[in-house]
Amino acid sequence: MDMLMFQLDRRNSVPLYNQLYQEIKEAIAAGKIPVGTKLPSKRKLADFLAISQTTVELAYSQLVAEGFIEARERKGFFALPVEELAYLDVPHEEPAAPGERFEYRYDFNPAKIDTRSFPFSTWRKVAKEVMDEMNHHLLLSGHPQGDEALRQEISRYLFQSRGVVCDVDQIIIGSGTEQLMPLLIRLLDKGVLFGFENPGYALTHSIFEHYDRKAVPIAVEEDGISVHSLEVRGVDIAYVTPSHQFPTGTVMGATKRAQLLNWAASKPERYIIEDDYDSEFRYTSRPIPALQSMDRSGRVIYLSTFSKSLMPSLRIAYMVLPKRLLRSYQQTFLHYSSSVPRMDQQLVADFMKQGHFSRHLNRMRKLYKKKLEQLTAALRPFAPTVKVSGEQAGMHIVLTVQTVFSEEQLVERAKAAKIRVFGIGSYDVEQKTVVPPQIVLGFGGLTAEDIEKGIPELMRSWDIPIKKAGHQ
Ligand SMILES: Cc1ncc(COP(=O)(O)O)c(C=O)c1O
Repeated sequence: MDMLMFQLDRRNSVPLYNQLYQEIKEAIAAGKIPVGTKLPSKRKLADFLAISQTTVELAYSQLVAEGFIEARERKGFFALPVEELAYLDVPHEEPAAPGERFEYRYDFNPAKIDTRSFPFSTWRKVAKEVMDEMNHHLLLSGHPQGDEALRQEISRYLFQSRGVVCDVDQIIIGSGTEQLMPLLIRLLDKGVLFGFENPGYALTHSIFEHYDRKAVPIAVEEDGISVHSLEVRGVDIAYVTPSHQFPTGTVMGATKRAQLLNWAASKPERYIIEDDYDSEFRYTSRPIPALQSMDRSGRVIYLSTFSKSLMPSLRIAYMVLPKRLLRSYQQTFLHYSSSVPRMDQQLVADFMKQGHFSRHLNRMRKLYKKKLEQLTAALRPFAPTVKVSGEQAGMHIVLTVQTVFSEEQLVERAKAAKIRVFGIGSYDVEQKTVVPPQIVLGFGGLTAEDIEKGIPELMRSWDIPIKKAGHQ
């Protein structure tokens, strides 16, 4: 081919070399430049199109790089066969309509924390210290289990506040409980039977399902998961939230703790996954040490998160593996890097090391305790129609409501009043109807004013009259 005639537009914002590249590419793909054809030399084409040789050179190099032409030494450039791209007749699907965005006036979502009281200036100061040239090593990948600095701090904190005894080696840092749970599940034998609390944390249940693991719901009794059911149903690994059962708020009693540990110790393949997600916030009586601290046979896999204590958007959680699982973990996940950015790990480590974390927890504990008191005080005039439970810890409580309405009706009526609440049934995989209905109320994200105004409005939406003074 002696020459190639293309109309290149100098006023176009697309550079000339790019226009030329596109034109030649399309001509080859359309068969207008047949396979094996020799293209004009760079100099000839540049002269012909009145452009610089560099422009042609750039276009040709791009075409060579993408396999449209090849350069044969001392011979020139030749068009190559182009594999035809198959065009699949993909049915056009309308994008899903954006989800209904319902504006709630009062949101009792248990996943919310108090975002107004976060120590932003301290966090910024520590972050600034971390983002420093001195820390250039943080640009490189770190330890696959998470940086030692953070694991040291977590180990110290867990020992002091939860009685958890572990080596730094046993700690694995990940992007949330939801990322660590699948890792853990993949580590354990595929054939084992998991037992999870019902009602319980919905995410755990879906993880078992997504990873195709056998899992059965186990009832939660007044003092925690039914150990009898674990035994009867042949469960190997129990997932529990003993410090503050999610969502009922039950605290596992001492007897049940001992029973559960003995259950685990009685067969070699048994384990307990202890999810200690909100144990930092305990309001009545002494803090109860973690189950892990009572474990004498290495059967407790301890999990916790910074989602409640710092912020859910941080996406940092950690697990403490029993030593007997550690080697297998290290072999299985040898090639995986930590899923948490190192700068963030260092920031949390320094925040803890400088004492800001414990100060923050002390402040937040007082603040949440105050909110809880405001909430229970606001609910008092509606007793005994409305009974409060699960108030020893965390950021949510449960209301048992004596009413003619079902749980779904209570949730719907609240929604009609633009108040968001959750029925306990929504955490129950068997969707059993609970009578009288129970409603989960999260209070972490609400202000004192929201609580004061929101509760009477919620009660009004449920047709629950305020108790008259003197009718105690
Ligand atoms: C029982 C339970 N576990 C764990 C978490 C935190 O999960 P993550 O660390 O993935 O944010 C929550 C948060 O609400 C929870 O309720």
